[in-house]
Amino acid sequence: GDQVPFYGLQQSGIITPPQDFLCFAAFAIRSKKLADVRALFQKWTAAAAEMTQGRMIGEWNEQHNSPPSDTGEAEGLSPSKVTITFGVGPSFFDDRFGLSGKRPAELRDLPAFNGDQLSEDWCGGDIGIQVCANDMQVAFHAIRNLARIARGIAVLIWTQEGFQRTAGADPTAQTPRNLLGFKDGTGNPDVTDKKAMAKTVWVQQIEGPAWMENGSYMVTRRIRMRLEVWDRTQLSEQEATFGRYRSSGAPLGASKEFDPLGLDRVREDGEPVIPVNSHVRLAHGDGSVQILRRSYSYSSGIDRRTGQMDSGLFFVSYQRSIAKQFIPMQQRLSQSDKLNEYIVHVGSAVFACFPGVREGGYIGETLF
Ligand code: HEM
Repeated sequence: GDQVPFYGLQQSGIITPPQDFLCFAAFAIRSKKLADVRALFQKWTAAAAEMTQGRMIGEWNEQHNSPPSDTGEAEGLSPSKVTITFGVGPSFFDDRFGLSGKRPAELRDLPAFNGDQLSEDWCGGDIGIQVCANDMQVAFHAIRNLARIARGIAVLIWTQEGFQRTAGADPTAQTPRNLLGFKDGTGNPDVTDKKAMAKTVWVQQIEGPAWMENGSYMVTRRIRMRLEVWDRTQLSEQEATFGRYRSSGAPLGASKEFDPLGLDRVREDGEPVIPVNSHVRLAHGDGSVQILRRSYSYSSGIDRRTGQMDSGLFFVSYQRSIAKQFIPMQQRLSQSDKLNEYIVHVGSAVFACFPGVREGGYIGETLF
């Protein structure tokens, strides 16, 4: 019912159908001892397994001489399909823990892309944890308690909350819409297709490193939207920007959301139906390389300097290779995507998400 299993060959929260809310957290490790890091991941594993079953963390003692081991705000709440997905960033592999030899060759900070305006406030991290749940309080509780357990060893350096429509608002579970009003996720590969997931998402034995087999690489990009500018743009212009209709989500010139893009189609005047600088054409490329997008909308108040809303897309994607999948795609988009008039990338991080863990084991055991 309301639980997503925590244990398994692969971590949950990757090909799990997106829940309603996101709480993302990046940590910096303050301890210099690998033993501390290992102990932390062991404690996190136990806590994550309990929380995904909707149980209180640790001993539930009624004696009041020390703080309770669970902060309590999720008591009595259903697990709400909470998933907790752990990864480590490039900085985890500097010389501190003697693990630099195990860094996957491609786990590096992303190259600078055209138009980036990155702020330290949403970049990097030794550890990244993605918590998703159908209830925000449940998701927040998870991050809060993971941070509490880390005290003295790792500290939070940035967080991001996200949302999409809830199942209550959309019982038929249509493709959710981003804050520009367009359906977002239509072109994703099918997560129930094992072959497609092996090709697109899960690191395979042949490519290594061995500790990453059945893991996946996560990219996060905090992308602010210039909503005020977008809202003054004509619908036909908005649709040309994406190459799809806003209402139905169908490719321009087609009638249904899941109709093929049909990039070869031309209008009477000889111009392509899906414009050359449209987002879907550039993202699609020749169609041979895909990623799995698992993004959430965010709204974080207003930017006091400009008076504009700080809202947009907390873009999250999973891929088997950042170098072969995300980077070439984002290079094409950053060069010529018409969408760039309306967005700016302000945060960036990459994490190697571990394979899943069996009961009795702990997250990260294949690495340390
Ligand atoms: C498709 C929105 C950023 C990769 C789409 C679609 C929308 C959309 C509305 C069409 C529906 C769909 O297939 O989901 C946005 C917005 C972005 C953004 C609002 C920024 C705020 C990115 C980034 C990437 C990306 C940074 C990767 C580098 C893709 C891919 C597709 C897609 C791969 C599917 C293309 C296909 O049909 O093959 N996006 N996107 N998008 N986007 Fe984005």
